[in-house]
Amino acid sequence: MLKNKSLISLEDFTNKEIESIINLGIEISKKPDHFVNVAKGKILATLFYEPSTRTRLSFESAFLRLGGKVVGFSDSSNSSTAKGESLADTIRTVENYVDLIAIRHPKEGAAYLSDIYSKIPIINAGDGAKEHPTQTLTDLLTIKNKFGRLDNLKIGVCGDLKYSRAVNSLVKTLSKFKNNKFIMISPKELQPNELLLKDTLSKVSFKQFDKIEDAISDIDILYMTRIQRERFDDILEYEKLKGSYILTREKMDLAKKEMIIMHPLPRVDEISYEVDEDPRAEYFKQAKFGMYVRMSLMNLILEGE
Ligand code: NCD
Repeated sequence: MLKNKSLISLEDFTNKEIESIINLGIEISKKPDHFVNVAKGKILATLFYEPSTRTRLSFESAFLRLGGKVVGFSDSSNSSTAKGESLADTIRTVENYVDLIAIRHPKEGAAYLSDIYSKIPIINAGDGAKEHPTQTLTDLLTIKNKFGRLDNLKIGVCGDLKYSRAVNSLVKTLSKFKNNKFIMISPKELQPNELLLKDTLSKVSFKQFDKIEDAISDIDILYMTRIQRERFDDILEYEKLKGSYILTREKMDLAKKEMIIMHPLPRVDEISYEVDEDPRAEYFKQAKFGMYVRMSLMNLILEGE
């Protein structure tokens, strides 16, 4: 099903395909040693035009754990982009050297454009404020592992709902699963963008809040995000909004015992360090699942079912 398929947006994948990636990811997390030959003789390129810790390193370690090799750059100022090369030309060059490309880029649509020019599969590792499909797969594996399901959940999403690509992809994907309800918590300035409101949220059950305290007691998942400083045109606007939310132990006292806290990371100050000790804090485990789900995705792209 997924053999040789690119992943630009999860909108191009059926729920069944998404679940097959998640289920294999769970299987891999239990016995990663069984998958050490999947990518033998293959090479992954990671082309990262924007900063990253988890996404790039989990892509690379995932491919290495599948038995493959990795090339790439984490700073495009060291690549021919600095000499004025277009993305299309870079892709048409790199595709000759490797079997698979994971790309992160500040421009929305960059992964889509890469896919148009590429003869080999492209995986979107984040394009501007638009999409971050492998983060969403990471999130879904974390949710499935905890709750055993991806439907009938009440999901609170808090922070920068306007610019966060992790939020954009997650809400769009979870809305495709039955009876999920969304509680969107943000300052007025950072409410979900018009497209997400019109094309997704308006078709599901959702409520908007501006305080964590008013929403936390009734949700299964609290998905925290940082305010995306790099996406603001006006840095003063960022200065005004930063620190809008800080999840503290006190606020966690209001939450259900079975609720989980998720965060794509990096954290700035939106979750206080004292909360890390709370058994409901799932974000570092989530980062670990990111590697397994990328192993699963790349396994399916290389080998099929
Ligand atoms: C996210 C991203 O890059 O969009 N980070 C990640 O990949 N884990 C979230 C963020 O930067 O806030």
